Amino acid sequence: MRWSWAAAVGLMAMVAAGCAKKDPEPVRVEAKKAWTRPDEKTIPSGPMGDSIRLGLRIFNETPKYAAAYVGNRMSCNDCHIQSGTAKWASPMVGLPGIFPQFNQRAGRVISLAERIEDCMRRSENGRPLPMDGKEMAALLAYIQWVSQGQRAGVAFPGRGLEKLPALEGDAKRGATVYSEQCAPCHGDDGRGSPPVLPALWGPDAYNDGAGMNQVKKMAAFVHYNMPQNCPGSLTAQEAYDVAAYVQSKPHTRFDGARP
Ligand code: HEC
Ligand code: HEC
Repeated sequence: MRWSWAAAVGLMAMVAAGCAKKDPEPVRVEAKKAWTRPDEKTIPSGPMGDSIRLGLRIFNETPKYAAAYVGNRMSCNDCHIQSGTAKWASPMVGLPGIFPQFNQRAGRVISLAERIEDCMRRSENGRPLPMDGKEMAALLAYIQWVSQGQRAGVAFPGRGLEKLPALEGDAKRGATVYSEQCAPCHGDDGRGSPPVLPALWGPDAYNDGAGMNQVKKMAAFVHYNMPQNCPGSLTAQEAYDVAAYVQSKPHTRFDGARP
């Protein structure tokens, strides 16, 4: 039986080396014209540029630059990849021309600033940024800057998360996917190694009111973006399974009453 083990290991190594894409679906919508992110060198000098730059820093290192308002060790950039410009990682590009928009969770039309507060209270397990403070102004200035050239009312291609078929996740199967494909970076204990490798559960992660804590949303995020060293290599079913496993782990309770 030894030879077959060797063959199996060899095959696995080949698959790993090629980083196989198992799943052709769902449709990976490509932009008609390739979008290039604005060059940071073009951020103007003066107070406007200072605000945009602060917004970018808050976005990439939220626990450092918005310390008073963050309750975990997550940055916006951990989920909104490439400073909020990667498609199907809920990009920020174009949002100023889309909001105010109806929000299901709120049951009413909300502003972009209010939508940011949602992520502050849930994904960042923190407190809202003061609406008239420099941090909120900076985030909005950055999002405005990165959205330059986008047509108002037209969603950026790749807005939101990938559209996956509705499947049931199996946490038991997900445990195997997790230990093989996620634990090397996010840790057996899910705590990762922030700020470089973000946590998936425990005190450093998002709370249980966050969008990422919904199996469907995490599956869609993971299927398109993870594992980070070989995105697109999981089937939709594997993405649901691993999301169900992560969701079954402890997350801080969302306290809706906390200001
Ligand atoms: C733990 C992951 C996570 C973190 C951290 C996080 N978000 Fe989000 N955010 C999400 C998810 C998931 C969605 C919803 C995507 C969907 O349902 O299409 C979202 C949605 C949004 C939206 C609305 C996007 C749209 O297309 O309508 C904005 C704006 C936003 N986040 C801003 C932020 C900002 C700013 C920060 C940092 C202060 C942040 N988020 C931190 C996960 C996160
Ligand atoms: C090679 C390292 C690596 C591997 C393997 C990996 N991740 Fe990640 N993951 C990251 C990094 C780094 C980020 C932050 C975003 C970025 O820079 O791409 C991230 C972000 C995330 C996020 C959003 C942020 C958060 O912490 O909530 C989720 C969810 C996630 N990964 C799930 C997974 C799952 C599930 C797997 C296994 C299928 C996986 N990752 C495999 C490195 C990795």
